[in-house]
Order: sequence, then structure tokens, then C-alpha cells
Amino acid sequence: MADTVLVTGGAGYVGSHIVVELANAGYSPLIIDNFATSLPSMLPRLRRVTDRTIPCVVGDVRDLAVIKRLFAEHSITAVIHCAGLKSVGEGEQKPVAYYDNNVGGAIALVEAMADANVKRLIFSSSAAVYGQPDRNPVTEDAPLRPASVYGRTKRTVEQMLEDVSSSDAGWSIGLLRYFNPAGAHPSAQIGEAPSGTPNNLVPMLAQVAAASAPEIAVCGDDWDTPDGTGVRDYVHVMDLAVGHVAAMQYLARVPGSTTLNLGSGRGHSVLEVVAAFERACGKPIARRAAPRRPGDVASCYADPSRAQDVLGWRAARDLDAICADAWRWQTNRHR
Ligand code: UD1
Repeated sequence: MADTVLVTGGAGYVGSHIVVELANAGYSPLIIDNFATSLPSMLPRLRRVTDRTIPCVVGDVRDLAVIKRLFAEHSITAVIHCAGLKSVGEGEQKPVAYYDNNVGGAIALVEAMADANVKRLIFSSSAAVYGQPDRNPVTEDAPLRPASVYGRTKRTVEQMLEDVSSSDAGWSIGLLRYFNPAGAHPSAQIGEAPSGTPNNLVPMLAQVAAASAPEIAVCGDDWDTPDGTGVRDYVHVMDLAVGHVAAMQYLARVPGSTTLNLGSGRGHSVLEVVAAFERACGKPIARRAAPRRPGDVASCYADPSRAQDVLGWRAARDLDAICADAWRWQTNRHR
């Protein structure tokens, strides 16, 4: 029988793409999602993409009774924990909500897992744990100085999981530090569905190109970078999903805690991303200079060589593929 993998936040942006790749790789994904920042309409879309019904429990990972029942009622082999809040700016305004969701959710989940003796876990961490790195590309052993509440919640959970792993050799834990996930499934059936105005650059560009927003605000043009705009490592969400399947297979063999950067290894400025999106959508995108956002850093891109060595994984899709898929999703998502 196929291994059942619980994906928390499996209706969300990264989680839904992971669900597709797990199904493709022969696993049985099971979703728990509270739909706080995702849409129930993702479920029929997942059925179309995977050609099967993906079971979904509507609930919150912080609800210990719900999550314990989930482990009692399903024979779960492993967990991928994607559920959480991820808006850097919102985290600065609502720190308690960020600690409650991101740290509180992980505590309840690990408690229920230990109770059910399920000790294989992948945690969705973030490059935000590095803050502004001293040098790029950034390796996993770089200093951890998160510049935002969001980044501190991710680092707090990482520390807890490292301690869990040290206390009990039965655990296999993957801490996967995502750089900037972007793009969508090539079918254009699933993708990022931000409620209201998107926070992230690529979905914002998609809205401007679709004329749902007038122009892109370039948040800071005086950073210490080649063209003055922020440099990030955009990694295609399908590449990320493939990385999770590779990590799942690795953790089935290797105990302990493994920390890996999942990034492309290339840094692109905001202006480079705008130009790539213009190529993808075939029209010019209006822009205006805007102030820096609180919690932002100048430049952050990955050295992904450990993921290549450990998992044999590397990002296969470039920035043009990311923008082409994000645009296809934007133009098809309301169908
Ligand atoms: C941050 C985290 C990342 C996390 C993500 C989750 C850091 C370094 N990175 O990404 O790990 O996965 O949040 O949401 O903390 N920008 C504009 N105009 C816009 C939007 C963005 O100029 O309308 C710029 C930003 O200033 C930045 C770049 O575009 O330079 C990327 O921003 P965004 O897509 O929001 O991602 P990060 O903040 O880098």
C-alpha cells in the first residue's frame, strides 16, 4: 500500500504543488487545511491534476484534539508541515498571530506525531532565517540572524525540531529553507491565490499585467546591489515540490535532522524580474519607485550545493519558466 503523507496547508500555494508531486511519485497525500489563506476550490483542481480525490480534513494544526484524531484515524507514515502564515510585512504588525500559528502549530503537530509514533517530518522553513547574509550565495551554516518576525518564527521552529531530533534518535527531520517560491503548475490548474493585494513580487506582477493593479511598486532602488533593487533567488514551485519528494525518500533512510537550502543558486533583481515578466506576458509593465519595506534585505540567494549532494536535487526551471507559468496561471485561474 502507498505511504500516506500528511501535508499540512496542503491546499495552499506550496503545499498544493507538493501534493501533486507526492501523488505522481506514488504516495497517498492527505491534507489538513484551515483555509485561512487558501481556497477550498483548490481541492477539485487537485483532483483534475492528479486524477484522484485527495482526502482533506478541514481543521487547524493548533487544535491538538483534531490533529490527534487525524493520526488515530489514518495510517500516516510521514508529515510535510507547510501550514503557516508567510507575509513578512503582516508579521511585523501581528507578531503574536505569527508566533501562535507558526510556532504553536508546530508544537501541537510534533506532540501529536510523538503520541502516534510518527517521526518523519519535513518542515517548510525559509531563507528568511538568514536575514541579510554576510556573503552570497548563502550556505546552510551561515549565521542565522532573521530580520523579520516571520523569519524568527521559522528559526524558532527549526531550533525546536533540532532539539527534538537530539532528544530522540528515532526522528528523521528535514528542515527545508525555501528561497523565493514562484511560478505555478504548468497545467495552470493550481498556483498562488493570494487574497486581496499580493505581498510577493511575482503574483503582484501578474496582477499588474492582467490590469487588476495599475503599476508595480519597486520597493527600494537604493539597495547595495548592481541596479539598486533587491536581489532574490526565485525558485520554481514545481522544483520545490520535486525537492520535497526527494527529501521524503532520503528521510526514509536517514535519521537525524538535515537542513537544506532549496533555491536556484541565482540572484535576480526586482528590475530583472519585471523584464522577465514583460517577456512572458508580451506587454510593458508600469512601475514606480517606492520606499523600502520593513524587514526587507538587499540581497539573498542560495548556495544549493548541499541539496544537490544529499538529495541529487537542483532547480531545473529558470526565471523565464517561472514567469511564463505564473502568467499562464493568472490568465486561466478564474476558469
Ligand atoms: C520573503 C522571504 C522568503 C519567504 C517569503 C514568503 C526574505 C529575504 N525572504 O521573501 O524567504 O519565503 O518572504 O513570503 O525575507 N518587491 C517589490 N515590489 C512588490 C513586492 C516585492 O519591489 O510589490 C521586492 C521586494 O522588496 C524584494 C523582492 O521584490 O526585493 C521580492 O519580494 P517578495 O516576493 O515579497 O519576497 P521576499 O520578501 O524576498
